[in-house]
Amino acid sequence: MSTDYVLQTTDLRKEFKGFTAVEDVNLNVRRGDIHALIGPNGAGKTTVFNLLTKFLIPTSGKILFNGQDITTMKPAAIARLGVIRSFQISAVFPHLTVLENVRVALQRHEGNSFHFWKSEKVLDKLNDRAVELLDDVGLAEFANSKTVDLSYGRKRALEIATTLALEPELMLLDEPTQGMGHEDVDVVADLIKRVSKDRTILMVEHNLHVVSKLADRITVLQRGAILTEGDYDTVSADPRVREAYLGVEEGEEVPGQSAAAKASDSKDVQEATA
Ligand SMILES: Nc1ncnc2c1ncn2[C@@H]1O[C@H](COP(=O)(O)OP(=O)(O)OP(=O)(O)O)[C@@H](O)[C@H]1O
Ligand SMILES: [Mg+2]
Repeated sequence: MSTDYVLQTTDLRKEFKGFTAVEDVNLNVRRGDIHALIGPNGAGKTTVFNLLTKFLIPTSGKILFNGQDITTMKPAAIARLGVIRSFQISAVFPHLTVLENVRVALQRHEGNSFHFWKSEKVLDKLNDRAVELLDDVGLAEFANSKTVDLSYGRKRALEIATTLALEPELMLLDEPTQGMGHEDVDVVADLIKRVSKDRTILMVEHNLHVVSKLADRITVLQRGAILTEGDYDTVSADPRVREAYLGVEEGEEVPGQSAAAKASDSKDVQEATA
């Protein structure tokens, strides 16, 4: 197994009472990439995500992190290795301030190894790091605001800060822009781009605008299996993807695609389905 890949799966499979939700998926996530997992409803994205984050046990197949077999590890164990699922385990406490929330996350991370938070000096250091993280996600000026008073987009930014506090090598994002308005979507997308430096991100994302903007590589799932992979231009120009995933009707917009590509694609789809 190459060290160019942070995460790899081999023939990953999940059956629910005889129904195969994930079928022999071989996923290769390159170090440093933002890798997006997309696909139509019911394609198996959430199931794959839950397998990778250990919320589900695979029926068969393997999951490797930096070449190490993590297939049977518990969520807490892979978190210690640096595989962190955001928006799930990084609970944010609404009635703490923004700064306090990041400090709690930092304490939790450090607390894994030793109980040092009794020392004043270390508490100061913790504060400095918390302020730094808030700065990274553009929340410095909200440090003393109550978390409950933040806008939705800023809460997401805070969740990202609390995830970063755990020093993830691989960050797993489950639909990070779900339920957001246009403005917040762009803010969070920019933020993901910013925090992707020096780490790898695997995200399930429905918003194709976000995928086109962020993803270095995209894996398209359909009926539990990988349909195709590539960068956004390659994947979005693939007539099978347009048909299967996008369900694109004639004349419908696919973000980032040229009119010429669209015209030829819709013809292909018509021919394929004729
Ligand atoms: N616990 C379960 N028991 C039985 N079937 C399941 C279970 N979880 C998922 N499935 C089935 O597996 C298939 C894949 O579901 P999954 O939720 O992974 O798809 P998805 O790509 O995340 O879809 P969506 O875009 O709607 O979120 C679906 O047909 C779903 O009904
Ligand atoms: Mg899902």
